[in-house]
Amino acid sequence: MTMSVDEQRALAEAFDPNRLDPAFYENPYPVYAALRRFDPVHRCPDGTYFLSRYADLDRIYRDRTAFSSDKKQAFAPKYGVGSPLYEHHTTSLVFNDAPYHTRVRRQIVGALTPHVLKAMEPDVVALVDTLLDRMEAQRDVDLITDYAAAVPVEVIGNLLRVPREDRGPLRGWSLAILGALEPSLSAAQLEAGNRAVGEFCVYLRELIAHRRRHPGGDDDLLTRLLSDDELTETELAQNCVFLLNAGHETTTNLIGNGLHLLLTHTESLRHLREEPQLITTAVEECLRFESSNQLGNRLVVQRTVVGDVTLEPGTYLTLCIGAANRDPDEFNDPDRFDIARQPNRHLAFAAGAHACAGMAVARLEGRVAIARAVQRFPSLRLAGEPVRGQRARFRGFTSLPARATKSR
Ligand code: HEM
Repeated sequence: MTMSVDEQRALAEAFDPNRLDPAFYENPYPVYAALRRFDPVHRCPDGTYFLSRYADLDRIYRDRTAFSSDKKQAFAPKYGVGSPLYEHHTTSLVFNDAPYHTRVRRQIVGALTPHVLKAMEPDVVALVDTLLDRMEAQRDVDLITDYAAAVPVEVIGNLLRVPREDRGPLRGWSLAILGALEPSLSAAQLEAGNRAVGEFCVYLRELIAHRRRHPGGDDDLLTRLLSDDELTETELAQNCVFLLNAGHETTTNLIGNGLHLLLTHTESLRHLREEPQLITTAVEECLRFESSNQLGNRLVVQRTVVGDVTLEPGTYLTLCIGAANRDPDEFNDPDRFDIARQPNRHLAFAAGAHACAGMAVARLEGRVAIARAVQRFPSLRLAGEPVRGQRARFRGFTSLPARATKSR
């Protein structure tokens, strides 16, 4: 159903990210289009601003002088100072500025060199093929629980060298902690998030103590972080929690959203099967079209003008990556899913000093998992109602029932 101009304007002006309805979670893009067109620097009822234009986000992400990533002010009322969630989210590098951010980031980037990534690839292929073997035996599968969610937890577990037998609780902890970043939270979500941080940190302190006694090589992420004498035990543990979380749900959603997109765009799927080398641009298009991380945030620390709005220091911004990635001023025919799209300068990994430090890992997982699933099962198809995660920040499915057979 198409909306009139007046309806779109009204939709944009009334938008409140703290009060989203089920239709929004199903398809937020009409709302994003209305915001981009009629109120791209939208003042929300709580006084924060919601930004939806590509050019504005690209500029803000690259500007470390006027905008800060520090979330202490925003998270104090949300979580309560001293709570486990407050300690976690205000200690991880992503929600901090230089010099602390720069130091932690240097260790992470230093451990994810092209050489390390190349060495990771055979393990990712072997892991994916084992999951596909299991799916072939099962036939009726869930592409999220049986596949998309199983890949990142292993990959990130390997990166930090978490013993395989300890990996069971990682996914649940991660979902609970990231779930607590939603714009509005229930008491149960808060409680689950706080408990998960506590349990995760107890586990990590043991892992860290063990790694101190048995250090790994230069390519071991945890050993590199340990080599920074200035990091306290809390900073170490909380950044490991963040790393495990950052690489987890986002990548699950890249794989899940990507498979869903291909299975619902059969022409694109056929094209990819005929020309498998398109997987590289196809993954970028999945990242753009259904960005797994839809919302980011920044704090204004220097008076600045965005669009026709003057933003004062202390103003909190939500940067809508999902809307920017469908901006017609940047992308031709942005609502068309085009697996060969080039150029495709999407903001799915943000940009600037905080741009995703694990983007090469995510791309590798996305390419291997999506390409091998569609090649392995020529008649892979959805076989039941997909269930969406009902989250505004992290867009993806919790269940994607499918039938995996080799015969056509
Ligand atoms: C499709 C998957 C992924 C998406 C969409 C994604 C997206 C993002 C975005 C948007 C940010 C910037 C946050 C901000 O500044 O507001 C970010 C930061 C980060 N991501 Fe990812 N990410 C993904 C996978 C990964 C993986 C696999 C890892 C680790 C191996 C990872 C590690 C990080 C780290 C460490 C940061 C913080 C960087 C910094 O603050 O300097 N991410 N990610």
